[in-house]
Amino acid sequence: MKILVTGGAGYIGSHAVVELQEAGYQPVIVDNFSNSQETALAGIEAILQVKVPVYRIDCANVAALRGVFAAEKDIAAVIHFAAHKAVGESVAEPLKYYQNNVGSLLTLLQVMGEFGVDKLVFSSSCTVYGVPDALPVTEATPTQPANSPYGRTKQMAEDILRDMAGANGPHTILLRYFNPIGAHASARIGELPLGVPNNLVPFITQTAAGLREKLMIYGTDYATADGSCVRDYIHVVDLAQAHVVAVRRLLAGAATERVETFNVGTGRGNTVLEVIHAFEQASGQQLNYAIGPRRPGDVPAIFADATKAAEVLGFETKTSLADSLASSWKWQQALSMSE
Ligand code: UD1
Repeated sequence: MKILVTGGAGYIGSHAVVELQEAGYQPVIVDNFSNSQETALAGIEAILQVKVPVYRIDCANVAALRGVFAAEKDIAAVIHFAAHKAVGESVAEPLKYYQNNVGSLLTLLQVMGEFGVDKLVFSSSCTVYGVPDALPVTEATPTQPANSPYGRTKQMAEDILRDMAGANGPHTILLRYFNPIGAHASARIGELPLGVPNNLVPFITQTAAGLREKLMIYGTDYATADGSCVRDYIHVVDLAQAHVVAVRRLLAGAATERVETFNVGTGRGNTVLEVIHAFEQASGQQLNYAIGPRRPGDVPAIFADATKAAEVLGFETKTSLADSLASSWKWQQALSMSE
């Protein structure tokens, strides 16, 4: 069965394409390559030994997207990854975020409706919880005002999909990701940040590889075990597999609500300092780091209650923090060798 994967050349999307194909589905990639690279396609093909169809279009372009649905004819479900994701950039350029993240969803919903495609997995984020009152967060934890336009686009998207559900919109699974890290075991695909990375783990691996002078820890004065922020770091292949499970559930007609929501995390919280030390152990590299001020907009601590995904989807993560970081390092080394 054909699964349209928007943002399929991106970090999470490329890993999902691999897992979908290996699970027996036929992924079809749509990507505008605004924050992804052609090398991801070569990596996917090297792993799978098949050519995956790719449409180099922007999914906010209604005519182009219609063309994809018309050409592929029998798309069974869509996974919508395509979005901008840099929190700081979204503050500086909110319009870019609303146009792309909200605009592309609206276009996609319109075209899915026109072609009678009624199953959707949507990339949401733990950012919808804002600064939570209690930890870990469950799917029932109330969302708080978002800290950034990026976060607001994810909240808006969820609202749009719930509104659509009341009006015969697609059967939808919202996956609220925690912090994806790591790379495919083959080191053929992984995260490819353009320019200076915003996220912790690519910054760590680029520093260890000598591409950055030092990692700055954004604050050690939070009310956490060692003062640095707490996050739930999930291996990207585990996260990709959650999409396969979600697609399978939709296609089987097994969902019990028109819109279902699941946290996708490990259920473990780790501080920034713990991640750094785990990386040093996993890689054998000494990391040059320093303690800096807090980063505006950072949530002090958040991690998932992963019970619902385990009980309802039968989904559990398999990869430890150490193994996830080891895979990030292997990927960084592969990248450094290819340059
Ligand atoms: C943020 C968003 C998340 C989004 C993701 C995409 C929030 C709450 N979270 O995740 O929704 O999907 O970006 O980019 O808005 N850190 C350092 N030094 C660095 C980089 C990061 O100390 O150089 C720390 C941060 O303070 C944070 C942790 O590392 O505590 C993880 O940061 P990052 O990887 O940027 O992810 P989030 O901010 O959690």
